[in-house]
Amino acid sequence: MKISVIGAGYVGLTTAACLAEIGHTVCCADNDERKLDLLRSGQMPFFEPHLEEIVSRNRSAGRLQFENTETAVTGAVAIFICVGTPPLENGEADLSAVANVARTIGQRATGYCLVIEKSTVPVQTGQQLKRQLQLYANKELRCELVSNPEFLREGSAIEDFFHPDRIVIGVEREEAATLLRAIYGPILEQNFQCPVHTACSFGKKPAWVVTDTNSAELIKHASNSFLAMKISFINMVADLCEAVGADVSKVAMGMGMDPRIGSAFLNPGIGFGGFCFPKDVQAFVRIAEKAGCDFSLLREVENVNKRRIENFVEKVSKELWVIRGRKIAVWGLAFKPNTDDVRFAPAIGLLRSLIREGAEVSAYDPQATEKAKAVLPEVRYCASPYEAAQDAEAVLVVTEWEEFRQIDWQRLRGVVDRPLILDGRNTLDAQAASRHGFHYVSIGRPAVVADPRPASDLERAPANVGKAVSKIALEGVTSAL
Ligand code: UGA
Repeated sequence: MKISVIGAGYVGLTTAACLAEIGHTVCCADNDERKLDLLRSGQMPFFEPHLEEIVSRNRSAGRLQFENTETAVTGAVAIFICVGTPPLENGEADLSAVANVARTIGQRATGYCLVIEKSTVPVQTGQQLKRQLQLYANKELRCELVSNPEFLREGSAIEDFFHPDRIVIGVEREEAATLLRAIYGPILEQNFQCPVHTACSFGKKPAWVVTDTNSAELIKHASNSFLAMKISFINMVADLCEAVGADVSKVAMGMGMDPRIGSAFLNPGIGFGGFCFPKDVQAFVRIAEKAGCDFSLLREVENVNKRRIENFVEKVSKELWVIRGRKIAVWGLAFKPNTDDVRFAPAIGLLRSLIREGAEVSAYDPQATEKAKAVLPEVRYCASPYEAAQDAEAVLVVTEWEEFRQIDWQRLRGVVDRPLILDGRNTLDAQAASRHGFHYVSIGRPAVVADPRPASDLERAPANVGKAVSKIALEGVTSAL
């Protein structure tokens, strides 16, 4: 059985590679010939943990090929549509790529063909897609449409594919899902050799959720919008914590213990980014508007998110007084760790703002430098966090990469001009920063002042003394507030 995946982006390439990994023969297509050549030469168009080895293993085993769309759809029994749906000027999703694929399927596919809509699309797209397929279908084609929204996250996409919470299927006839259920069989049964975990402890079988197509499409947009709302909510709570002298990490912990709320996605910061949440929230608002429903709640989610960067720049300016001419290091460019994706990344907005204010910016990211360079060539990009921090008057942490948590504080202290950290992701160890003489400002928590004693003395002192000193410092700041 030939399975084809149209679109070799984050979702398409991951889906194709993982389907091949569980034993299917997969043809992955893209209309970008350069991307296809890159993939055929064994290189990846983006960074995603584990993806390269899975692609390489399955190409060698002859289970994964890269072709153009026409070749891929010809003779395919199941076709996953994974092409991009970028935002139009008015916030609606641009469905032209989806429509083009439908036309190619109609013209080229033959016999029975299950068309699986995986791209994130507005509700009722499935119905349009079905009409489009019928319109262009040749006589030999018997087509069935299934909506199968994708929930994988960049940076943990492979893990998410192998261990999903649920697989959602939107169908008109339940029998249409039989083939798809067989395709996902090893995932549903959790009986595959896991390429991520050596001793795979997940094992929990995902739920198989069958709905109508409209509901399946809504599940995707509603899920992303809800998660975005959770982030904006905790960001507002963080602002309130700062205003009244509370600690958002404690508030979030207390809230998250309620299973009705849950602790995930309650990390405050400089806002959500990436190619999903910002565009999906916008598109969802437009969908609701067109359907005559006032979803202004989500407009506020967007507004709160847009203000995060401004708020952060205000924090920087409060600490530095004047930004113009100041040397500032920015750690992290990707919209989240473990990816090189900078689309709608808060770091890009922040860098633009700092440059506008006249700062002299040096930036570092473990993976995203090349992609950031393409959109912001005027920044000085560095090869390490220390190089970026050289002579800096402030270090701004924008993406919570593990590398930053493992920072050598002494080395960092030795290179900066002024020991000031503004942590936009609450990711560094505040006490370690203080012990090494840094003034540490984060989101929704009291600032931690630099410990006046030399770090070497504190290193020799028992751990509880260090903690006591930091506690005194913290109490000092809290009472000053
Ligand atoms: C998101 C969803 O989580 C996936 O389920 C979905 O499949 C995907 O969009 C998509 O539609 O394709 P992704 O954009 O890869 O996945 O990343 P997330 O981990 O959801 O993070 C999104 C943004 O929210 C990031 O900028 C992250 O830093 C931010 N975030 C996340 C917070 O600011 N706080 C949090 O507590 C969590």
